[in-house]
Amino acid sequence: MNNIDSIRISILSRIKPHDPEKQKLSALAESLIRRINAIGRDMGLDIKAILVGSSARRTWLSGEHDLDIFIIFPPEASREYLEKNGLSVARKIAEEAQRSEERYAEHPYINAVFDGFEVDLVPAFGVASAAEIKSAVDRTPFHNEYVLSRIKGLEDDVLLLKQFLKGCGVYGSDLKTQGFSGYLVELLVINYGSFVHVLEASREWRPGMKIDIEKHATEVHNDPLVVVDPTDPARNVSAALSIDNLCIFMDKAREFLNAPDASYFSVRAVVPLEDSDFKNIMEARGTSLIAIEFTAPDVVEDVLFPQLHKMEDSVGEMLERYDFRVYNSGVWAEKKAILVYELESAALPALKKHAGPQVWMEEHAAAFKSRYSGSNAFSSVYIRNGKYMVEIPRKYATAKKLLEIELPKCGLGKHVALCIKKEYHVLENEQILEIREKKFREFLRKFFTK
Ligand code: UTP
Ligand code: MN
Repeated sequence: MNNIDSIRISILSRIKPHDPEKQKLSALAESLIRRINAIGRDMGLDIKAILVGSSARRTWLSGEHDLDIFIIFPPEASREYLEKNGLSVARKIAEEAQRSEERYAEHPYINAVFDGFEVDLVPAFGVASAAEIKSAVDRTPFHNEYVLSRIKGLEDDVLLLKQFLKGCGVYGSDLKTQGFSGYLVELLVINYGSFVHVLEASREWRPGMKIDIEKHATEVHNDPLVVVDPTDPARNVSAALSIDNLCIFMDKAREFLNAPDASYFSVRAVVPLEDSDFKNIMEARGTSLIAIEFTAPDVVEDVLFPQLHKMEDSVGEMLERYDFRVYNSGVWAEKKAILVYELESAALPALKKHAGPQVWMEEHAAAFKSRYSGSNAFSSVYIRNGKYMVEIPRKYATAKKLLEIELPKCGLGKHVALCIKKEYHVLENEQILEIREKKFREFLRKFFTK
């Protein structure tokens, strides 16, 4: 038995659900489905509940305890009808839950906990094909059918790849993670035939790599990886995957194949950064750290994170435009949103060298000289390498001042812009230690150790 085979066995013994867990999950799913259908009958609704997602495909990781139950409405139902009745059925079911809350994706649904299982109760339209969907979630039952018809015998390989991706920190297609979705993992395993074959194939991947199992693509996608949805020729299943997360997987896959080890399947525990660690790290690196802190808008993560990343880029560009060199940046959010920038230096000289025209461009020369021969310059106009030069006061000598004044002028998403308009704080170096949230300190640890 080679090393990969023995690793496979030992990892599977940990991540593959055993009988009691499987039975508990099926029993709960069946009883919820029965109750939803009964409530539908009582309310005179033409609905049908179905189990979808990894728990319907035997591709869930042991302990994940997540059930996706869809409440299917006739395709001709209106959106308002589906939202109103779907929610009222889901709310009735959720009355028996340990806790429940309304969440929003494209339309509202209920997330509830029964018996320690997280259950999503999602209303959807039962359209005839994935090409006719009325809402993004309507694709899911088609995914279910497709995967179920191809996955038999490959379930263990799906589990291994999901756990490997978790170990890399790139599992999850939400816009905060920007990684691989469960469905994407299933399609990769179906396409390449096994966990190891996916890893081996990834050695040959290049950005823009396209996998089209059904050979039916109708669109050109400009994404790092394109996996055409077998149930919808226009969609890239891998649209949320970022280039860096794709590359993290490719890098780890290569490392693992070269020297297989069980540790690739473990999720690294992150120790929150203590004040003293922070001081030592900053001292050793000799850089400056700047944080922008504000109250996060009350929107779902899939709306918030793209706006935070957009802000991260536009603020980063502004810092560079004002000569602050950005070494690294990151975003974190819970109730608060925090953007962190590591700068070569957060303070620059009071003066800035400013180049003018070449001396022989007489007309421009005159304009430049008359503009800068005033009193507030550090130097008079002088000549270097055939050009006029002058040393002028820098508009912002510190990144803090720059951000305090100019930040609202950066390109910001709608919700983030409103929050920034109300209030934000710019913290520098040790002031950042005023932020004590444990999760933020974990984020800071990862920020430095990468
Ligand atoms: P889940 O996110 O629960 O994924 O979405 P999963 O396949 O069940 O995997 P795990 O094991 O819980 O992580 C449930 C279904 O919703 C659809 C897919 O069909 C998925 O199986 N879905 C979800 C998408 O099409 N795209 C997404 O980004 C997320
Ligand atoms: Mn799921």
